[in-house]
Amino acid sequence: MTTRTWQNPLRDPRDKRLPRIAGPCGLVIFGVTGDLSRKKLMPAIYDLANRGLLPPGFSLVGFARRDWADEDFGQVVHDAVKEHARTPFRQEVWDRLAEGCRFVQGSFDDDQAFDNLAKCIKDLDDERGTAGNHGFYLSIPPAAFTKVIQQLARTGLADQKADEWRRVVIEKPFGHDLASAKQLNKTVNDVFPEDSVFRIDHYLGKETVQNIMAIRFANQLFEPIWNANYVDHVQITMAEDIGLGGRAGYYDGIGAARDVIQNHLLQLLALTAMEEPVSFRPETVRAEKAKVLAATRPVLPFAETTARGQYSGGWQGGQKVPGLVQEGGFAKDSKTETYAAIELAVDTRRWAGVPFYLRTGKRLGRRVTEIAVVFKRAPHLPFDDTSTEELGQNALVFRVQPDEGVTMRFGSKVPGSTMEVRDVNMDFSYGHSFTESSPEAYERLILDVLLGEPSLFPKNDEVELSWEILDPILKAWTTHGKPDPYPAGTWGPESADQMLARTGRHWRRP
Ligand SMILES: NC(=O)c1ccc[n+]([C@@H]2O[C@H](COP(=O)([O-])OP(=O)(O)OC[C@H]3O[C@@H](n4cnc5c(N)ncnc54)[C@H](OP(=O)(O)O)[C@@H]3O)[C@@H](O)[C@H]2O)c1
Repeated sequence: MTTRTWQNPLRDPRDKRLPRIAGPCGLVIFGVTGDLSRKKLMPAIYDLANRGLLPPGFSLVGFARRDWADEDFGQVVHDAVKEHARTPFRQEVWDRLAEGCRFVQGSFDDDQAFDNLAKCIKDLDDERGTAGNHGFYLSIPPAAFTKVIQQLARTGLADQKADEWRRVVIEKPFGHDLASAKQLNKTVNDVFPEDSVFRIDHYLGKETVQNIMAIRFANQLFEPIWNANYVDHVQITMAEDIGLGGRAGYYDGIGAARDVIQNHLLQLLALTAMEEPVSFRPETVRAEKAKVLAATRPVLPFAETTARGQYSGGWQGGQKVPGLVQEGGFAKDSKTETYAAIELAVDTRRWAGVPFYLRTGKRLGRRVTEIAVVFKRAPHLPFDDTSTEELGQNALVFRVQPDEGVTMRFGSKVPGSTMEVRDVNMDFSYGHSFTESSPEAYERLILDVLLGEPSLFPKNDEVELSWEILDPILKAWTTHGKPDPYPAGTWGPESADQMLARTGRHWRRP
């Protein structure tokens, strides 16, 4: 028998009951004039400051091509915060944050600009006590990742001295396929050790996504039936109601599968299907995710187990909306999909024979992200056939967004003198059950970067395993046919419905 020594949780630096305040540090954002920086990163930094989670001398350095002084940059951050921050604006918090705002002008291939950045960081260490601890957030086009990493290496900004840290944060997409992801991992890991690399998958910062682990592993109710004996199939959906709008140029050549399935949906699959980690330490959670991704494979033949589409004009929310081609910016003969659905198998004892269906698309019926675990029917129903005509399959649905919570669907007696059974829903909603509002995903993730807590960031092997799953499908799609059209406001092309109908199943209409 093994004995365990008792550990005082108050002595454990990972104890989550202690407030998680970052130590002395600064953050450099590359691409600070971009959309992501203005709408998410700067507001998240302010929200952290407002919650008292940043250290007193915290410094925010913007790097971009504009001819700005520190004050101009400060004004841009101010405007972004006023427009997009989650928490109320407080002048004293802003004043403190503004004192630490610096701007460095330059392009990524400009050595002098990076030398200026190195000097700026040294000055901040001296003036504001950032103590040599700095994060570098690459909120820039993926084509520029390598160049910036090389510049950080050249200037010594990536060097970790004793008692200091240097961390790099990399936005998605991480690679275009398996080969490019491996190459990028190599480029990054040649400069930064893996524990200093934070690959952003902002879905992992969402409360509802972390709740998958809480629901599964904190309760006795679900885990005994979380396997092929009881689960019929799993559907993971991320549906958007918006079209490409101004992002057509970025999206053409990437498509729905690379943009969403490779990262967000495969991470959701991993959290849903993984085994219980021995602890919530980063290395153990990530190891379990990698294990289940290694056991996951696409199902053949792809003509029957995948579907892809491109939206045409249609109606959405009572409004007529244009199709992809009319919106402009997309090559007319482009094969890039705006809808993708795939079937995956997880070759483990727990999941043998249980299909995992993943789908995502633009201009679909509703904006919704959910994971639906759909259970097998009861083996025997002691009712008249007509009594259960409206009884579907039991389901547990994690509602990731927008109406965050969990729904359980099961059969219940319809009031009246006959025994008629119909599906009903039991709902848990974050908004009703908790008074605290959820932090934005980027708040949680940026704080984790500053704390050096990598659990919610996919590791190099997870990223490569995800591309390994998707690559054969993408390859088959480039050599066979075109995406099927689907009218805006619907739930995708008919081929997606046929994909499930072949096995007598159907997609949920959330
Ligand atoms: N936007 C989102 O909601 C979103 C969501 C998920 C992931 N991402 C990822 O986040 C990253 C940034 O996205 P974004 O939408 O913010 O992009 P964006 O609006 O196009 O911004 C790109 C930024 O990079 C800068 N930049 C480009 N080339 C440069 C160069 N040679 N030298 C210096 N600066 C240069 C631009 O500066 P200038 O102003 O000088 O051009 C701009 O600040 C991308 O990797 C994207 O895939 C974005």
